[in-house]
This record gives sequence, structure tokens and C-alpha cells, in this order.
Amino acid sequence: MLVAPSILSANFGKIDEEIKAICEAGCDLIHVDVMDGHFVPNMTIGPVVVKSVAKAATKPLDVHLMVENNTFFVDLFAPLKPEYISFHIESEKHPHRLIQKIKALGIKPAIVLNPHTTVETIEYLLEDLDMVLLMSVNPGFGGQKFISSVVEKAQKLKELINKRNPNCLIQVDGGVNDKNIHELKDAGVDVVVAGSYVFGSNSYSKAIKSLQI
Ligand code: DX5
Ligand code: ZN
Repeated sequence: MLVAPSILSANFGKIDEEIKAICEAGCDLIHVDVMDGHFVPNMTIGPVVVKSVAKAATKPLDVHLMVENNTFFVDLFAPLKPEYISFHIESEKHPHRLIQKIKALGIKPAIVLNPHTTVETIEYLLEDLDMVLLMSVNPGFGGQKFISSVVEKAQKLKELINKRNPNCLIQVDGGVNDKNIHELKDAGVDVVVAGSYVFGSNSYSKAIKSLQI
């Protein structure tokens, strides 16, 4: 299991130190939540701050867009060379076109599904995707309760992935901790995002290792 700490729960007063600490603690990716105050009722960081995050990071960035105007934000973040950019299917009218655009920029495309969105919605996009992110909370905030129906959803998605594109990874984001990590692993999940569980712990390295099962 790969682990991507969400910096939403980090101390932004000392973000450089926080980024260095999670990298040294052995994280696999750094999850950057981008919110526009329209698609979700919260706002986070833009490219200026993410640039300093990228500078301090020794692990690849995983940018999670929670915005209405996806194309605008893809153009804004592409120069920072993240490994992944993920966008919500609920906010995009032309997901296939946007996937091709992200690929052309040399970035791995991923699609995010809110808790109510069924996996069949993206069946015919799977062959072009490097990752699908299943939300296990409503997007917008860290520290929320895990919505356990995501486990069954991951199992269904795994079946579609096996049929359409076995290289596509499954990521789960929201309320992940050392209690639910085993059922996620059993369901076929490859990558988990963890914000409050990692940044709220006494030892980032112990918390990260407890999820790398
Ligand atoms: C929620 C974000 C998550 C969030 C996860 O909108 O996408 O990445 O930071 O935080 P926890 O792990 O605390 O649920
Ligand atoms: Zn996220």
C-alpha cells in the first residue's frame, strides 16, 4: 500500500519543515488538496504555495483538484510537474478531453468520484487513466468520518479495472487510519491518502508505516 499524506492537516506556519518531515518519514507521495470555494465550501492553496511545497519535497506530488474550472487549474499547476493531477467527474463536462490534455502535459491523469457517484460512470475512461480516487468522505475538509461503503465500491472498481486496464491504481481519500486500512487493502486499494491520521500523530514515520501494509 502506498501512502500519500494530505498536507491539508499540516502546520502551514512551518510547511517546509512539515514536507521534509513526511518525506524523511517515508511517505510515497505528497497529496495536495486544491479547493476553489465553489465546487467545495472551502479554499486552500494555489500555485505560489505549492511551488514552495514542491521545492521542499523529495517525493512526487499528487494534486487533487476540487474545483469547478478544471482546465484553468490544470494549466496553473502543470508547470510544477506533479506526478498526478486528479479532477472530479462531478465537475467536468468533458472528462475524456481533459484526460488527454493532462497526458499531453506529461502528467498522469486521475479521476475522483464523490461518495454517491457509481464506478460505472467512468468505465469507458479507465483505459486512459493511471489512477481512480474514491472519496471516503465528502470533499472539502480533513478530519471527517470514514464512509465505509467505499470498501464495496473499491471491490466493484477493481473488477472493472481488471477488465479494462489492470495498470490503473485505486486510491482512497478521507478518514483513513490504522483501523480501516486492512479492509481497504483486501478490497484491492493501492494508494491511501491520510491527513489527520498522519499529521495528528506523535510519530509521522510510525503512522505512515502502519498504513504501508
Ligand atoms: C478532503 C481531502 C482529503 C483530506 C483527508 O476534501 O480531499 O485529502 O485532507 O483528510 P483526513 O485523512 O483527515 O480525512
Ligand atoms: Zn484529497
